[in-house]
Amino acid sequence: MRQPLVAGNWKMNGSLNSVRELLKGIKAGIGDVGPAEVAVCPPFVFIPEAQAQLADTPVAWGGQNLSAEAGGAFTGEIAASMLLDFGCRYVIVGHSERRTLYGEDDALVARKFAAARAAGLRPILCVGETLEERQRGTTEDVVGRQLDAVLELAGAAALADAVVAYEPVWAIGTGMTATPQQAQDVHAFIRSRVAGHDPAVADGLRILYGGSMKPGNAVELLAQADIDGGLIGGASLKAEDFLAICKAAA
Ligand code: 13P
Repeated sequence: MRQPLVAGNWKMNGSLNSVRELLKGIKAGIGDVGPAEVAVCPPFVFIPEAQAQLADTPVAWGGQNLSAEAGGAFTGEIAASMLLDFGCRYVIVGHSERRTLYGEDDALVARKFAAARAAGLRPILCVGETLEERQRGTTEDVVGRQLDAVLELAGAAALADAVVAYEPVWAIGTGMTATPQQAQDVHAFIRSRVAGHDPAVADGLRILYGGSMKPGNAVELLAQADIDGGLIGGASLKAEDFLAICKAAA
């Protein structure tokens, strides 16, 4: 049995005050959530606040990005070891906003994945196609290529304890959601791709859906056989909505 995981990707949102309130809200309601694992990924500067507030709770925290390098003259970058210093369990790697807005290609994403793994962080590897790619019928080519880059560099064993998030780019922040069947089809494809390398790793791999997941659509999405949780953007900024999704996963 795969333990469901619901992770909030706060992106570049919030202030110290709003983050304190949000963490307070999550802490207050987390007792009712049940068996799903819950994590939040705040902007880097708020990670110490998350650590301070969440240390005595079951909620984990993580980064939204990391450097592929271990350290040195890389102005503005954050190394895996630094995230670990602040108690991070997870780090998002290869989010589509990093890929499209900051030019991260498959090779760099794979190196970041390997850097996270080497440091003992659990990467949440994001994959997903654009609307144009879906309409052209190339969803599996794109997602397969994104997965293969990591499988080739890091090996299938590196996916044990890691997480994959299927985030169709056209569903991110748009209010458009993949139908449960569309999402399930890609999740099953991801699992089979990994199974081609290592069936046991594939069987244990948690594959999250991300893209306008909300309390209103979470139950249906999470009921799919290969959807093991969610990576939540907008709805993770409201404690009530985030906790409702966590409950739906449990
Ligand atoms: P939304 O939930 O706002 O669509 O964002 C999804 C996402 O990008 C999570 O990483």
